[in-house]
Amino acid sequence: MGNLDGKVAIVSGAAQGLGEAYARKLAENGASVVAFDVQESIKDVAASIAADTGQRVDGVVADVSKQADCQRIIDDTVANFGGFDILVNNAGTWRETPVDSSWEQALEDYHYIMDTNFKGVLMLSRIAIPKLQERGGGDIVNISTYYVLPARSEGTNQPNTDLYNASKWALNGFTDAWSKHLAKDNIRVNGMCMGATDTPMLRNLFPDKQLPPDMAEVVMKAEDIAQQMIDLLADGRSGENIGAWVGYPIEIPPTPAPNRLISG
Ligand SMILES: NC(=O)c1ccc[n+]([C@@H]2O[C@H](COP(=O)([O-])OP(=O)(O)OC[C@H]3O[C@@H](n4cnc5c(N)ncnc54)[C@H](O)[C@@H]3O)[C@@H](O)[C@H]2O)c1
Repeated sequence: MGNLDGKVAIVSGAAQGLGEAYARKLAENGASVVAFDVQESIKDVAASIAADTGQRVDGVVADVSKQADCQRIIDDTVANFGGFDILVNNAGTWRETPVDSSWEQALEDYHYIMDTNFKGVLMLSRIAIPKLQERGGGDIVNISTYYVLPARSEGTNQPNTDLYNASKWALNGFTDAWSKHLAKDNIRVNGMCMGATDTPMLRNLFPDKQLPPDMAEVVMKAEDIAQQMIDLLADGRSGENIGAWVGYPIEIPPTPAPNRLISG
């Protein structure tokens, strides 16, 4: 049990990696969780978290890039739990998108990346926000990347990932506008912007899914990033991008002066 007792959380892309860690950490802290993913394995992952934590964790197969699936997730959560308090927009896709590829390839890449990383966040959140307003408040956490923050450490993202990069910069627009507009409704909206974290997405970048030894030594753990999210929820701030850089403490920074919020 913990400081999220009685809360209900929705986590997208929770079958592995950071999403699984967020779902587990939320449950460990007392929340009930709706964990969804395109992968069937989400059902086993959710059952395992439920067994380990004693919390209700529903594992649902759903695709955040599909409007009907977003609607189903929100409607079913309200029907089954009476509402929800926390939405973690974690589902994300990555692929190389060289700027000199054909425009036809670029359009295909656009849909592959943006339909999940950008449009999915828009659809799920816009369907969710009226429910959070009715609930009297809550939290939205947009999972971004340290690429939108000033550099502190080198990362694994190649220069030929313009669309992935753009999809995460686009989340800044949501975090900034929603945090300001929804403050009146007691809804906080933040971004989390981590560097290299040991997940299947990161390992897929390397042959045989083996991290290079120098990276394996320093890479961040998903459970530590998940704890940072729990700390962020407890902190209560809104409208910020919270960074986590390889080689630095994973923590919530001091509250910035107003002119350091992401809108400048
Ligand atoms: N791992 C890192 O180093 C790192 C760094 C910065 C940001 N991120 C971000 O963190 C988030 C999680 O990344 P990860 O490393 O755990 O990735 P991952 O690929 O290991 O896991 C992503 C999960 O999202 C699911 N998913 C993908 N598209 C989906 C869709 N349309 N609908 C529902 N589920 C979908 C996948 O099936 C998978 O289970 C992503 O948004 C990613 O961009 C990761």
